[in-house]
Amino acid sequence: MRTAIIGFGTAGEGRLHAYRTVTGGRVVAVLDPSPQRRERARQIDPTVATYAGLPELLAAESVDAVDICTPPLYHVEVERAALTAGLHVICEKPVAVHTDEALDLVALAGQRGRLLYPAHNYGFSPMMRVLTGAVADGRIGRPMRASFRIARDSHARGVPGWQPDWRRDVSVARGGIMLDHGTHCAYMATRLFGEAPRTVSCVAQWADGDASGGMDVAARISLEFTTGECEIDLSWVSGTRSNRYLVTGPDGTADVHDGVAEVRSAGRVERTDLTPPTRDQTHQEWFGGMFADFAGLVAAGTGWDRPMREVVTTTALIEAAYRSAALGGEPVVPAGRATAEAR
Ligand SMILES: NC(=O)c1ccc[n+]([C@@H]2O[C@H](COP(=O)([O-])OP(=O)(O)OC[C@H]3O[C@@H](n4cnc5c(N)ncnc54)[C@H](O)[C@@H]3O)[C@@H](O)[C@H]2O)c1
Repeated sequence: MRTAIIGFGTAGEGRLHAYRTVTGGRVVAVLDPSPQRRERARQIDPTVATYAGLPELLAAESVDAVDICTPPLYHVEVERAALTAGLHVICEKPVAVHTDEALDLVALAGQRGRLLYPAHNYGFSPMMRVLTGAVADGRIGRPMRASFRIARDSHARGVPGWQPDWRRDVSVARGGIMLDHGTHCAYMATRLFGEAPRTVSCVAQWADGDASGGMDVAARISLEFTTGECEIDLSWVSGTRSNRYLVTGPDGTADVHDGVAEVRSAGRVERTDLTPPTRDQTHQEWFGGMFADFAGLVAAGTGWDRPMREVVTTTALIEAAYRSAALGGEPVVPAGRATAEAR
């Protein structure tokens, strides 16, 4: 599949390297408004053509897909343009911010007969494999409670050459930590519990205490599922960095704490070291599984409702969290419980 990377910052550069490790995908073009970033792409791969604008790229190149790695402000406009041009789309999170946007994109993909695929790469991480494995093979049983705790001392910084601190600018980031990292937790919880939550409650902390139009720097999101609850704690102001995913079922517990996974079941503890080989924040080593899923769906031409429905349920969950936070933590029913019209 001939692919163009749109946005060549931290995520885009990670992607260019990651595509070299997969079969069936080849990056032929890169788009970035920053001359410095285009130069960087050519240094890494001199065969790649670089562009500053999408119309020029689409006019000059014959590509099958785009992989969108821009800051969130540009995701929807590039997704629309690429789908309209008849291309398959992989898009970094968040694929959309409002459920209406997500539904429109899924409808457009359906009309054009193209796949809109969310870059939900945590779904292909070793920690998610441990958690879903412990549920699927019955060691812990169906999840009853889950707790995800994501602690950071700051937001991630982007590349020099554009706006490294765009995550602090809500007009570019379109939200704070709930959208940036909460999105990963949202689809992980939805996959583990096997459905979209019935209600979402959220209490958030805002930069400079500005709840109206400000940026969320910490949040506690509670998801109520038919069979249990998931609590998600997110912070960019915790003074430390750690990740913990704890899932409890009737027969045991799966606990992934930073690089160590422990599954406790039937009086046994299975411990696995998941320490990643590098501290690469784009998680290139998870890309192979995700790309294989994307390329397999494109080749099969069926099964597209799964990723496209996840675009809608994930968007709706995070949107509901923001709505609940604005209402002081009242439970909100996410719009994503409505079924996405997908192919
Ligand atoms: N899934 C993950 O693990 C993961 C990790 C990192 C980033 N991301 C996502 O990737 C996206 C980019 O984040 P980043 O950390 O790479 O940011 P970054 O600041 O490092 O890079 C952004 C790049 O986009 C370019 N850009 C700006 N406007 C553009 C436009 N209109 N068209 C094309 N390119 C444009 C900039 O010049 C810059 O090179 C975000 O959506 C972020 O959430 C995901």
